[in-house]
Amino acid sequence: MADLKLINLHKKFGSNVAVDDVTVTVKDGEFVTLLGPSGCGKTTTLRMIAGFAKPTSGSILIDDKVITSTEKNIFLPPDKRDMGMVFQSYAVWPHMNIFKNVAYPLKFKKMSSSQMKKRVEEVLDLVKLSGFEDRFPHQLSGGQQQRVALARALVMEPSVLLLDEPLSNLDAKLRESMRYEIVELQRRLKITVVYVTHDQIEAMSMSDRVIVMNSGVVQQIDAPRIVYQHPVNKFVANFIGMANFIPCEILQRTGSAVRVKLKDGFNTHFLNVPTPEEQTYGENVVVVVRPEDIDVLPSDGGEGTKGILERQIYVGDRNDCIVRFGDVSLRILTQTKYSFEVGQEVSLVFTNPILLDA
Ligand SMILES: Nc1ncnc2c1ncn2[C@@H]1O[C@H](COP(=O)(O)OP(=O)(O)O)[C@@H](O)[C@H]1O
Ligand SMILES: [Mg+2]
Repeated sequence: MADLKLINLHKKFGSNVAVDDVTVTVKDGEFVTLLGPSGCGKTTTLRMIAGFAKPTSGSILIDDKVITSTEKNIFLPPDKRDMGMVFQSYAVWPHMNIFKNVAYPLKFKKMSSSQMKKRVEEVLDLVKLSGFEDRFPHQLSGGQQQRVALARALVMEPSVLLLDEPLSNLDAKLRESMRYEIVELQRRLKITVVYVTHDQIEAMSMSDRVIVMNSGVVQQIDAPRIVYQHPVNKFVANFIGMANFIPCEILQRTGSAVRVKLKDGFNTHFLNVPTPEEQTYGENVVVVVRPEDIDVLPSDGGEGTKGILERQIYVGDRNDCIVRFGDVSLRILTQTKYSFEVGQEVSLVFTNPILLDA
């Protein structure tokens, strides 16, 4: 059992706030990813969890045991936290063979050499490196070195595994296969994972929940599908996947929907956008539409939402188009059965529009 609680975790470097009051509970056996652009505070958060950095204020608990608390002046050192950590740079020791690299953390445990050997063999088997015991890191590929780092993090059987951009030094193909291997390993070991990446595909494909961060502040914590379909603000909508933003004006609220007027410069269009009842909006709002959530139809010349087709690239299973709608260029991925000419007027149908503060 290892629930991990971060409570009002705050970290300043001088006057620069790197992590701003992060509060989250990671459930036992959950795979949670900190996702955000470079410099948003992911590594700093992970280092505070691991005990490599002290927060300016806040606390960290594992299963209600306090491991960091500025208020209570508690700070458990990294080796007392029952956590394993994998760094982007692998951090394997070049002068030690693979066996010694992986066995290293066990040296501080009272353990017979046969027990140690058994444990190292088990964990090398887990990361598919059996038989590599006598090799040195320079005799391994990047992916294999990263597995050594993973094995070393797992050898103590930690209840929490922390990974900081562990795949970013690998080539694209290997990165993809390692994603699945890490998730599979996590499922098998039922270990709690906090994973850090700036790569949204990695975060979306691996995680139970994603914590989207920007400038040290948590923006949204939700399952990948929710983060994509119901982003809470423009930052999240833009950072996760592609998004079109159309400025609009709220006309009326009708129960669980909002009727808006799309400002396209020359025509007036109305759209009903389903919204949570409790949601309130400011003066300026935008409708967010994903490229795959816009249908392009032949223009009938009558009412409706119209645009001008500016570009289209046929990519087999769909058309990748740009349609000018007032001041906005909409990126559209459509499986339309119609064929259009560039410059032609088309009708647009927005499915799954999302209303957000501008
Ligand atoms: N040791 C440090 N000293 C001063 N500033 C730091 C230090 N570590 C990180 N920062 C700053 O804190 C912010 C967050 O950094 P970091 O956690 O490394 O971001 P990320 O991992 O999301 O790229 C950045 O502005 C970074 O420059
Ligand atoms: Mg980082």
